[in-house]
Amino acid sequence: MPDLDELEAETLSAIETAGDEAALEAVRVAALGKKGAISDLMKGLGAMGADERKTMGPALNGLKDRIGDAIAARREVLRRAALTARLAAERVDVTLPVRPGPLVEGRIHPVSQVVDEVTAICADLGFSVAEGPDIETDFYNFTALNIPPEHPARQMHDTFYFGEQEDGSRYLLRTHTSPVQIRTMQSVEPPIRVVIPGRTYRCDSDQTHTPMFHQLEGLVIDKQTHLGHLKWVLQEFCRAFFEIDNVRMRFRPSHFPFTEPSMEVDIACKREGGEVRLGEGEDWLEILGCGMVHPNVLRHCNLDPDIYQGFAWGIGLDRLAMLKYGAPDLRAFFDADARWIRHYGFRPLDLPTLFGGLSR
Ligand code: DAH
Repeated sequence: MPDLDELEAETLSAIETAGDEAALEAVRVAALGKKGAISDLMKGLGAMGADERKTMGPALNGLKDRIGDAIAARREVLRRAALTARLAAERVDVTLPVRPGPLVEGRIHPVSQVVDEVTAICADLGFSVAEGPDIETDFYNFTALNIPPEHPARQMHDTFYFGEQEDGSRYLLRTHTSPVQIRTMQSVEPPIRVVIPGRTYRCDSDQTHTPMFHQLEGLVIDKQTHLGHLKWVLQEFCRAFFEIDNVRMRFRPSHFPFTEPSMEVDIACKREGGEVRLGEGEDWLEILGCGMVHPNVLRHCNLDPDIYQGFAWGIGLDRLAMLKYGAPDLRAFFDADARWIRHYGFRPLDLPTLFGGLSR
């Protein structure tokens, strides 16, 4: 039988020197745990003779209680010390100025602002919003849009291609939002009125081109759609977007494989000392491409060109943002420079609406 006084003295001293709650817990397990020293002794009580048990029983129970009390007392001391240390470490200086929250500091990027503006305008004209993947197949980006393999227009797109698949095909980063025209016509029954904002990619970089940029595609398909509708929609669009009632526009014949006839649209402008004034003046600024959807494109989507016609347009959103908000270098749009976004960005709660104003 071990010396109980010695065991008690050792355990009490271990309790007193335990530096934190984890160390104290280790002492408790060693003494009172399932396999602890005192628990072991208590297990031996059953095998003792009646006399011995009479003295050892109360002695062991007394020891167990004293050790238990000592542990509880030490735990309380350690807990208080830990709390005091934490309060000191996490002290808050309430005299510091309040840091402004994201609603005050945060800014909406001009491109996001323009996406919100153009979708608000188009929603008002009865369009819904559609989206498609950035990674496309050759079929959606080119072939279905009446740009077959070997067509020279493919060279003009400076396409980023992915590596070859087993069957020799290659995925690509869409060079325009036009493939979503095809995806929409394949999945929605006419009448169709959608706009498609999104990222597009071409291997190009200078003051007015970045490898990633944004377009807005528009598509209308119905049974009696004609060029007059196209013209009206684009005039309303420009009037609302540039916030100029009499914006002068010019529809110039052009060529796109996926439209026939095709046009490019210019708006009048005046260049004065490095600044461009929009909507009036003798110069012209090209802003978008458009036309009546080519019958071959309709056929690729299983629509009968003798029943359905429609029009489409594509417009560069970064370009629109530069024109409307006077940012001279497109590359700065994507530099993630906090000073730039503070200057050119928009406050988060000033959402553009037609009734509240697009760009207060
Ligand atoms: N996809 C063309 C481009 O990126 C723009 C375009 C032109 C889209 C005419 C159209 C359109 O929908 O009808 O250069």
